[in-house]
Amino acid sequence: MQNDLINDIRQRVDIVDIIGERIPLVARGKNYFCVCPFHNDSNPSMCVSREKQIYTCFSCHATGNVYTFLERYENWSFRETLKYLGDRVGISVGVGNLEKRSSKFDKFYEAYQLSVKYYQNNLVSSLGREARNYLASRKIDDAVIKEFSIGLAIHGNPLTELLMKKGYSLLELNRLGLSSDDRDIYHDRIMFPLQDMNGHTVAFSGRIYKDHNQNKYLNTKETEIFKKGQMLYHYSVAKEEARKEKCVIVMEGFMDVIRASTIGIRNTIALMGTALTTEQIMFIKRLSTNIILCLDGDAPGQEAMLKAGELFLKENIEVKVVVLPNDEDPDTFILKEGKQRFMGLIENAIYFSNYKIRALRKKVDLGSDREKALYIDKVLEEASQIDDEIRVEIILKKLAKEFDIGYNTLEIRFREKCENKTKPASLMITSSTKTHKTKYIKAVESLIYFMLTKDFVLTATKAEHLIFPEEKYRITMNEIFYYYEKYGKIEVADFYTYVMDKKEVRGVLDEVLQEEYESNVDNVLLSDLYKAIRDNSLSLEIRRLKKKIEEELDPLEQAKLGEQIRKLRIGD
Ligand code: CTP
Ligand code: MN
Repeated sequence: MQNDLINDIRQRVDIVDIIGERIPLVARGKNYFCVCPFHNDSNPSMCVSREKQIYTCFSCHATGNVYTFLERYENWSFRETLKYLGDRVGISVGVGNLEKRSSKFDKFYEAYQLSVKYYQNNLVSSLGREARNYLASRKIDDAVIKEFSIGLAIHGNPLTELLMKKGYSLLELNRLGLSSDDRDIYHDRIMFPLQDMNGHTVAFSGRIYKDHNQNKYLNTKETEIFKKGQMLYHYSVAKEEARKEKCVIVMEGFMDVIRASTIGIRNTIALMGTALTTEQIMFIKRLSTNIILCLDGDAPGQEAMLKAGELFLKENIEVKVVVLPNDEDPDTFILKEGKQRFMGLIENAIYFSNYKIRALRKKVDLGSDREKALYIDKVLEEASQIDDEIRVEIILKKLAKEFDIGYNTLEIRFREKCENKTKPASLMITSSTKTHKTKYIKAVESLIYFMLTKDFVLTATKAEHLIFPEEKYRITMNEIFYYYEKYGKIEVADFYTYVMDKKEVRGVLDEVLQEEYESNVDNVLLSDLYKAIRDNSLSLEIRRLKKKIEEELDPLEQAKLGEQIRKLRIGD
């Protein structure tokens, strides 16, 4: 890999701009702070340093440079990230410029690619006539079939046979969820490929089209490359579209997403009929914080919408909701009512809290004063969670009118509710969240930090020949020396790129960058650090010898060991 090119590009962009374009940053002192996108954060725990060109989350300990940020935030590969940043600064990153970083899953992805091709061929062959008719009857034309790579599984076990000819073992095919023993998993089903967050096909959903005695959909089992809790249909496409549209629409089934694309709406993802997970929420949040739920209009769909909305609220996002007529899903609604009506619904999506109030309203028995009062109380409770005075006022006014109660009476009650609320935790990060580190570890971490920021510390430390009992520190030190020798200078942010795939060193760096350090290093400070590191080795050695004494039976040997300990103690 061409490190010069990578570092050159990194030095021309400012991490503050890159992160700031995605998440609101607040300046505090020399640094910038934001809500960390890598964990369920509500306080600004992520610090972005313009000076060092790195970010650090004090809560989840995510750290790195502009490359690691974009890879994780955008779900891009390193090459995509490099290309993106290269384009920004006008450095072209040709394909030939970098060797391909192969993933250990490449062979698996390839098996799925072959399967997709194979199924696509079936659909256009003479065996596919009935399936094509079925798709046509559902108004899925050739363009859509192509866009979503829809295919067809036939009878027998042709896929297993084909892939075995291509060199896949049955073991692998079973692991991949493509075969069961030596048989195909899918027979006589219309095949919808499912992609992971990066657009690799990693699974299928197969729909029946002629035999109605089977389950409507059959999905690939969980595998190493297909995790259901992380799956969101159409995510890799919606990524770009949601950014353009500044909004993402969440639907229930993939047929809904496919239908929406026929009217040009592609900032959509589907949950695939499973309950929303926190992991999925994290991914959705990255597309846009303007999220519209548009699940099925039936009772289970409405129930799912209430649950999902609550989960989003827990992550401090109030979604909007589109309610479809009962018995409709986006697919059938668009077919029946057309594009304009559907767009109308999307544009008029209501806030989740209003949706909840409406759902509550349906359950109230208006003949009972007690129920009315309970309902009003619940609405005020909901309103007290809303962070927007205008919206609150609208809700209170409506309530006052509907139940013929004085606005002021409601408002007084509303204020009471608000006062009982505990305020969110303070924005400052308290040191109590940090774990206690020994003097030795603090010394090693400081030393590593100074080595990465001051050349003279690096040179001085090399001459010290320090010994680290922990392998992770030994590896880290060696990598720093190696890097410096090779490139003649070192910067934290560049070093990050270099150790991106070295898990152990990254772990150490993550820890190191959580801490604050002196800005001035002199020889006195350095000798203190060296001493703390040597003292640690010393006490470890003494402890080891003491243990040996305890195990030693021969008194003479015991005495020798005792002598050794004494010498160590006086520094001989
Ligand atoms: N689903 C599933 N297994 C089933 C039924 C549904 O895995 N037996 C998943 C599918 O991913 C589907 C989603 O749940 O996309 C929503 O289900 P449903 O609303 O029943 O599917 P539709 O989108 O209405 O599909 P169709 O129009 O083809 O009936
Ligand atoms: Mn449906």
